[in-house]
Amino acid sequence: AATSSPIQQDFMQCMSTQFSAYTKSFEIIFTPDSSLYTYIFQSTVQNPRYLNATTSKPLLIITPFHESEIQAAVVCSKKYDLQIRVRSGGHDYEGLSYLCKTPFIIIDLINMRSIEINVEDEVAWAQSGATLGELYYAIAKKSSVHGFPAGLCPTVGIGGHFSGGGFGTLLRKYGLAADQVVDAYLVDVNGRILDRKAMGEDLFWAIRGGGGASFGIILSWKIKLVRVPETVTGFTVSKTVENGATELVHRWQYIASKLHEDLFIRILILHVGTGDKKAIKASFNSLFLGKIDRLIPLMNEIFPELGLRAEDCSEMSWVESTIYFAGFPKGSPLEVLLDKRQLYKSFFKAKSDFVAEPIPIYALEGIWDRLVEEEIAIMIMDPFGGKMDEISDSEVPFPHRNGVLYNIQYMVKWEVIGVKATNRHVHWIRSLYKYMAPYVSRSPRGAYVNYRDLDLGTNNLENTSYFEAATWGLRYFKGNFKRLAEVKSRVDPGNFFRNEQSIPPVPTSG
Ligand code: FDA
Repeated sequence: AATSSPIQQDFMQCMSTQFSAYTKSFEIIFTPDSSLYTYIFQSTVQNPRYLNATTSKPLLIITPFHESEIQAAVVCSKKYDLQIRVRSGGHDYEGLSYLCKTPFIIIDLINMRSIEINVEDEVAWAQSGATLGELYYAIAKKSSVHGFPAGLCPTVGIGGHFSGGGFGTLLRKYGLAADQVVDAYLVDVNGRILDRKAMGEDLFWAIRGGGGASFGIILSWKIKLVRVPETVTGFTVSKTVENGATELVHRWQYIASKLHEDLFIRILILHVGTGDKKAIKASFNSLFLGKIDRLIPLMNEIFPELGLRAEDCSEMSWVESTIYFAGFPKGSPLEVLLDKRQLYKSFFKAKSDFVAEPIPIYALEGIWDRLVEEEIAIMIMDPFGGKMDEISDSEVPFPHRNGVLYNIQYMVKWEVIGVKATNRHVHWIRSLYKYMAPYVSRSPRGAYVNYRDLDLGTNNLENTSYFEAATWGLRYFKGNFKRLAEVKSRVDPGNFFRNEQSIPPVPTSG
């Protein structure tokens, strides 16, 4: 790689002397002079909203093949007082894996994506740079009766997803991705590689939902595979308000978290049509861990209002269901799960809530009125209950468990670049969020860290106190925030691994 400034030269010199295993046979360090620098910088950015002329760029991007290169990068970044941004899949909603206001480097784990499946022991090791799609594909190549409970979008990176919790269609049966992690390798602030035993139970607890970026660089994860039937069923039934969508959504709130845990029915709400013809549409999108002949009687018993018919349903393998939920056309080859092009890349802003009491009809109607104000606004309602009710709030840092009926994600997308357009859409979603306050969890109002939202509060550029950070920390982690800060104090007291919403150490004075 070409070098363009003394600090970059010093850094590379440091890298090559740090560890003997550091190899120069592959190009792994890219400076702004490198022809590939911009391409790599932008390659996995999911929300291009943050890519503009004023975005501060990394001094270097490192794309390690070997863990020793990451160890070297940590030691050298500390030596030259550079911040590190770690990127796995690049899906962070606020760009925290590649943006920083002070001089920084990116460690992009794009080349660290191996996955080893051990069907006999029902476990797998997956490197952080692999995607969920690659994981689902690798499992399916080895077994038709195993799956993994993680998110719906195949290009999401394992590193960010597991370290923030991670949920998808198997949530009601098996909980979060983080609930199934049994070991991990991490590079700590001193450049040491630690497994579960070496890092200790506190740190191992913290990286399973507390956001990995605060504690080190997680190299790989050992996960338990979960059992799924050979045949599962998917269905999507869509209704407009004219066809009773409001009443169905209202009714769904009472039953979705109480259903048999084999049944997951989420709702996607958006509007169809334009101008005066805009109509709200609710799509009931479901995975059932069984066949149609078991599903239909179950639905007739508990949710007859939806009127589900056998012809609305498709039987498929579990891995085919991951393709179905990702929105690929029916009959797509399994290899679409390996496609690295991001499916839903767009400018967006999102927010999240947890709901503990059904929202009344009049309030749902108020939401619909707001959704039609935007061109592309989506509300996703993911049911909880089942296994989520059985796991304690403090088992891992993700605290939104028993009593949560469902999670809401609000998202607004747009295509016009520019501050004015951005401000308009962001203002819209903030106003919807304000409107929702009386109907969602309170004291604190919960939020999901993987749907990162910097509106909840951010750290200062330098050190932020535990109490300042609590404004957003308690909302993501509730009572677990304190323990996360205590772990942070022990493993990274100097707050080297930090970003706008990293866990701060607890002040020594208490
Ligand atoms: P990215 O690489 O941007 O990292 C996110 C954060 O984790 C950053 O702070 C980063 O520094 C840190 N990090 C990444 N790798 C690390 C490592 N190895 N060690 C330490 N820190 C690391 N969620 C969900 O639960 N269910 C779902 O179905 C979906 N679906 C979905 C669809 C789409 C289109 C998007 C954009 C996002 C989702 N998500 C989701 C949210 C997703 O889980 C969340 O954005 C993850 O953090 C993304 O992980 P990446 O590795 O891709 O992000």
